[in-house]
Amino acid sequence: MPLVSGLDVIAECTTRGLVAGAFNTTNIETTMGIVDAVERVGVPTFIQVAPTNVKLSGYEYVYDMVARRLATCPVPVALHLDHGKSLTAVEDAVAARFTSVMIDDSESPYDTNVATSAKARELAVPGIALEAELGSIGGKEDDVSPEHASTTDPAQVRDFVQRVGCDMLAVSVGNVHGHAPDARIDFDLLTKVREESPVPLVVHGGSGLPAEQLGRLAEFGVVKVNVASDLRNAMIRAFGEAYAANPHENSLIRVSLDAVAAITDVVEQRIRQLNPSA
Ligand code: 13P
Repeated sequence: MPLVSGLDVIAECTTRGLVAGAFNTTNIETTMGIVDAVERVGVPTFIQVAPTNVKLSGYEYVYDMVARRLATCPVPVALHLDHGKSLTAVEDAVAARFTSVMIDDSESPYDTNVATSAKARELAVPGIALEAELGSIGGKEDDVSPEHASTTDPAQVRDFVQRVGCDMLAVSVGNVHGHAPDARIDFDLLTKVREESPVPLVVHGGSGLPAEQLGRLAEFGVVKVNVASDLRNAMIRAFGEAYAANPHENSLIRVSLDAVAAITDVVEQRIRQLNPSA
């Protein structure tokens, strides 16, 4: 089916009590691997790309690649801009027909974050979902890490969401980007944030969280969980293992197909962990 709006993914997941995985793509192998898994499990999903990952291709290429693969996929999937750190990134993704965008000005002072995110709302015209971030998620992604990580302050949540008009809120409640095996969700803090938020929540840093925690997030108003490092590592490992086994390996397509299969397995596992009853 054609790409759907992020609003449709949020609505369907909310109705069915599901959590959408949001999987980062960089290239065709990752895209194929994600959609193969989505077709196996049948849970609405976001495919997303961050500005750091369009250096090779640009947003239009990513749109074409994802839309072409999804044409034969029966499951609703939205194409999302991950961590738009500038309004220009949001503009570029909207121009390339992304159906969901994130503005991330979470490291700025509160009022600046509100003002920037509200401008992103004007750019994300009706039909495009908007995610904004309150509290700055720590860790490292693509060599980018915040100078000042901070947790989400529940006292700011309602005011922030109402002034910005975002459709979902990314929160910092113990989740961390990148390789972070010790990261754990603070469910007490998540509960307080949820009580204040008029919109569903987004948890970044899905790779580092244990399955038991992922499986509880639906109960806490979380509708979207981002996963990137696991997929990237699966692809890099497939190529590394092929080279280690034979430094003269030259069947790029065979190794690429192995990488797709490895990514599919990781994505399927994560979707099932997020939705134990799906
Ligand atoms: P991980 O790399 O830890 O899965 O985090 C991904 C993410 O949150 C992308 O925004």
